[in-house]
Amino acid sequence: MPRVVVFDRFGGPDVMHIVDEPVVEPAAGEVRVRIEAFAVNPLDLMMRSGASPAPITLPRARLGVEGTGIIDAVGPEVTGLEAGDPVVLTAVPDASVRGSYAEYTTVPASRVLARPAGLGVAAAAAIWVAYSTAYGALVEKARMRPGDYVLITAASGGVGRAATQIANQIGAVPIAVTRHAAKRDDLIAAGAAAVIATDQVDIAEAVRHHTGGAGADIVLDLVMGPGQQDLLAAARPGGTLVAAGFLDPRPTPFPGGAALAIYSYRSFEHTLDPVVVKRMAAFLNAGVRLGALSPAVDTVFTLDDVVEAHRHLEKGLHAGKKIVVTV
Ligand SMILES: NC(=O)c1ccc[n+]([C@@H]2O[C@H](COP(=O)([O-])OP(=O)(O)OC[C@H]3O[C@@H](n4cnc5c(N)ncnc54)[C@H](OP(=O)(O)O)[C@@H]3O)[C@@H](O)[C@H]2O)c1
Repeated sequence: MPRVVVFDRFGGPDVMHIVDEPVVEPAAGEVRVRIEAFAVNPLDLMMRSGASPAPITLPRARLGVEGTGIIDAVGPEVTGLEAGDPVVLTAVPDASVRGSYAEYTTVPASRVLARPAGLGVAAAAAIWVAYSTAYGALVEKARMRPGDYVLITAASGGVGRAATQIANQIGAVPIAVTRHAAKRDDLIAAGAAAVIATDQVDIAEAVRHHTGGAGADIVLDLVMGPGQQDLLAAARPGGTLVAAGFLDPRPTPFPGGAALAIYSYRSFEHTLDPVVVKRMAAFLNAGVRLGALSPAVDTVFTLDDVVEAHRHLEKGLHAGKKIVVTV
């Protein structure tokens, strides 16, 4: 029987274990996917540890909001997909029931997309969450345009790297923020037009320097916490701040008085909308085809080492690149 990663209680990586479960026949409107690889996301750690805001049913909770594989069976009333098609799983929102940490998963057909041509299995496993989040926040929410100065926090992370590539694809100017000056060269190599290292300089002052005094048109805040005040000061009046991550667990002061459009962004608001998903898929396909978009993969683990893969992410050993597990 196919193997599935489950957890029966909340806790550290060790609560995950592998069980055999029968495959689920796809119902009307569903497809079954033979998973080839999945990526490990911060959301998975939150779900496993009990910190996720979404309700999770124990025991035998499943994990995994993205991955890639081959369609293995197609349910009634599914059109445009057939067995043998390579696909990408698009952030399965009911992850605790049918996550991608498994040899097979059965999901609504609307939750898969054709795998972008030219993308290897590991990169395909790691593309959706980071790139759909960055695209949704910057393009759909903030309406990023060519020439916009875009300040990207946690730029060395999965979403930050995707945001940098997407800004370049559009013709905007990505300014990367990191806490460590030692990451400057890596971030320039990853496509940043400029790097601001907060261990060395004041963000608002540095942004003014890089934007001819104007300030950032768009700020992508993946960190939040007290540092958001510095980002607000770095944006131009009338600019846009999109808060899409929460890496700093400290409270975020209310951004009162800021002359900006401020949005809180959760990618599910777009990934459940087929019209936006169609635009996202077209944008990602074009970017992959042109070589502008390419997920940075750190370490590739095997399914037997899934506990190690979570430890790797928890310890921050991934250097912001994606961790992938092959199945
Ligand atoms: N809105 C959504 O729908 C959505 C979707 C996906 C992810 N997210 C969220 O977006 C955030 C980023 O995700 P990711 O996958 O890109 O994470 P990641 O790859 O783990 O990014 C880590 C990077 O963030 C920086 N960082 C870590 N802790 C920090 C802190 N306390 N203060 C400032 N910077 C910190 C570090 O960069 P430096 O060491 O260079 O500073 C690190 O390289 C997470 O909060 C994640 O949950 C949201």
